[in-house]
Amino acid sequence: MTAVLRPMTRADLDQVVGLERDVFGEESWSRQMLEGELDQQPASRYYLVAEDDGRIAGYGGLLGAGGQGDIVTLGVAPGDWGRGIGSALLTALLGEARRRGYTEVFLEVRTDNDRAQRLYRRFGFTDVGLRRGYYQPSGADALVMRLSLTGAGGAGAGAAARS
Ligand SMILES: CC(C)(COP(=O)(O)OP(=O)(O)OC[C@H]1O[C@@H](n2cnc3c(N)ncnc32)[C@H](O)[C@@H]1OP(=O)(O)O)[C@@H](O)C(=O)NCCC(=O)NCCS
Repeated sequence: MTAVLRPMTRADLDQVVGLERDVFGEESWSRQMLEGELDQQPASRYYLVAEDDGRIAGYGGLLGAGGQGDIVTLGVAPGDWGRGIGSALLTALLGEARRRGYTEVFLEVRTDNDRAQRLYRRFGFTDVGLRRGYYQPSGADALVMRLSLTGAGGAGAGAAARS
């Protein structure tokens, strides 16, 4: 992977909003939503972009409160899938979660998104529940996954192996 990870800023939003549409389609977040997220950095949010030669190839975000984290978004430009960018972003977000002292990290992922689920399982996430109709406007169901950041070897042993 040649992309470099760095914090996301408002100056990145033109590219990120475009990427968001390519990756998430009708479920994509608006610019306004993303601005609202960035406004909460660093207190309760941590957003990263993966930059490749001046172009943003991927991004991801972590939300945290009360010792718990949530991977709120993770997206890689379709033409860049399989290069390890998603793994690198997830590794960095989980590293930050650990630095912030979170003991567990949750995420939601569409039940039909096998590729993303494979990535999360490789990092040690396990299924903890189902949220019916979670995604709008599609009404698709979300699988809720959890990773414990306490205990020996937990916390993304797979992450370390891949990055
Ligand atoms: C899910 C997603 C973030 C994964 O990103 P990615 O950059 O393709 O992820 P990686 O490259 O780290 O890993 C994905 C696959 O590529 C393989 N891979 C990674 N680096 C590789 C490399 N250098 N050479 C060959 N294969 C590689 C991995 O083994 C993995 O394979 P698998 O899924 O078959 O097990 C991306 O597909 C995406 O944006 N999807 C749409 C949005 C989405 O679903 N987001 C998550 C839901 S919230």
